[in-house]
Formats: sequence, structure tokens, C-alpha cells
Amino acid sequence: MRIDVISLFPAMFAGVLGESMLKIAQDQGAVAVHVHDLRDYTLDPHRKVDDRPYGGGPGMVLAPDPVFRAYEAIAPLGPPGARRFLLSPGGRRLDQAFARELATAPGLLLVCGHYEGFDERIRRGLPLEELSIGDYVLTGGEIPAMVVLDAVIRLLPGVVGDPASVIEESFSDGRLDCPHYTRPRAYRGMEVPEVLLSGDHARIEAWRHEQALLRTRELRRDLLEARPAPDPSGDPS
Ligand SMILES: C[S@@+](CC[C@H](N)C(=O)[O-])C[C@H]1O[C@@H](n2cnc3c(N)ncnc32)[C@H](O)[C@@H]1O
Repeated sequence: MRIDVISLFPAMFAGVLGESMLKIAQDQGAVAVHVHDLRDYTLDPHRKVDDRPYGGGPGMVLAPDPVFRAYEAIAPLGPPGARRFLLSPGGRRLDQAFARELATAPGLLLVCGHYEGFDERIRRGLPLEELSIGDYVLTGGEIPAMVVLDAVIRLLPGVVGDPASVIEESFSDGRLDCPHYTRPRAYRGMEVPEVLLSGDHARIEAWRHEQALLRTRELRRDLLEARPAPDPSGDPS
């Protein structure tokens, strides 16, 4: 997969892309991430990309021309069928199902806003979907873009060593993950549940399933309520 990011602060991405799973995924060739500096696409001699809002009011607005120019130069570098987004608090909210959908795209283009946001003509004039990482406002689109990168790249085939990890984790089946334990067997008076030491894989699976449901009921009952009702014929498919 090819991912292009357009940002005013490309240096912010170096740490996230240079460590852990995202670095491994790039080293393996599962993904190529290209971060482009929006200021390279302004014609302003001072590399300015923003201006004061018409009508007055606080803050600065990202001007249309640098974003249109960046888009027109960078979008053709991506593969046909790439999904292209403005990061925007009002966009479609990212969740695990949306991340899975994006992981099947041949490429992504993410445009990060800043200041008060984008001149409206960017929304009106460019063929971009809008994506939000949640109902709160961050300073810029860089952290949201990094959230998208992480959520999507770890789902690409072969990136997470054991594919079961991304199948069994929270939100994959409308429920949270089960509890996990490692050594030591007893810690500060808290014991590892006996079933996990039993070696009985069927019992362990049943316990994990039950615990995942209990945890979901305790912490995120809304996920269970949103699950499709069981088939009355008893057909589990
Ligand atoms: C300070 S915000 C602009 C907020 C805008 N004035 C509003 O009230 O909706 C600057 C930029 O950060 C990014 N951003 C902020 N919060 C975000 C979120 N929850 N999801 C995605 N992008 C976000 C967007 O790119 C946005 O253009």
C-alpha cells in the first residue's frame, strides 16, 4: 500500500514512522509512506500557506491554492482507487470497521489541516472524503493522520506476526478483548486464573470468550447492544 500525507509539520511523523510496527511494515515493503510538506506547494515568497478569515474572527485559515497545488501534484502519484481524505473533526469517525475498510484500499492520501482549518473551497473543490478520529478538536491533522496510519498499517497482511492477534482483539467481533496474563503466576496477592494453567485448550477458549463478554458488559455495554441479534434458526453463520 502507498500512503501520502500532506502536512505543515512533516517532521512530526519521523518518530511514529521510525519505530515499532510502522517501521517494520515499511522495512518489509508492506507499506510506503510519503510525507509531503505543504509549504513546498505555495507560491508565496515567505512560504505562507494561511491567511486571515474573511468576515473577521480569531485564527488563520489554510488558503486554497497551496492545498489545491499539493493535491494536484501528489494525488497522481498514488495508485488508481486510492482513498483520499481531509482530516476534519466533522468527518466520518474512525473505528475498527472503518480502519479495516481502509486497509483494503490500494492507497491513501491524508491532508492535514491546521489553525482554524481549511478554506471551504478546499472541501467544495477537491474530491476528498472527510475523516475524524473522534469528537474533540486537536491543534492539527498530524496526530489524527498518525492514528490512521497506525490503525490501518497494523491490519495490512503480514504486518502483525500472528494474524490471530488482529482477529481476536477488541472491536473485531463487536466486543472487547479478554484479559491476558504473563509471569509471574502470583503478583502482589493476585493469582493467574487456574484455567490458564490447565493446558486444556477448549476450556481456555471458553473462558476467554466468556471473559471477553463479561468485560464488554462491564465497560462497553453499547457494543453488545449494537451486535446483530442471533439467528433464530440457530444457524451460527
Ligand atoms: C484546530 S482544528 C480546526 C477546528 C475547526 N475550526 C472546527 O472547529 O471544526 C485544525 C485541524 O486539525 C485537524 N483536526 C482537529 N481535530 C481533529 C479530529 N478530531 N479529527 C480529525 N482531524 C482533526 C483538522 O485537520 C483541522 O483542520
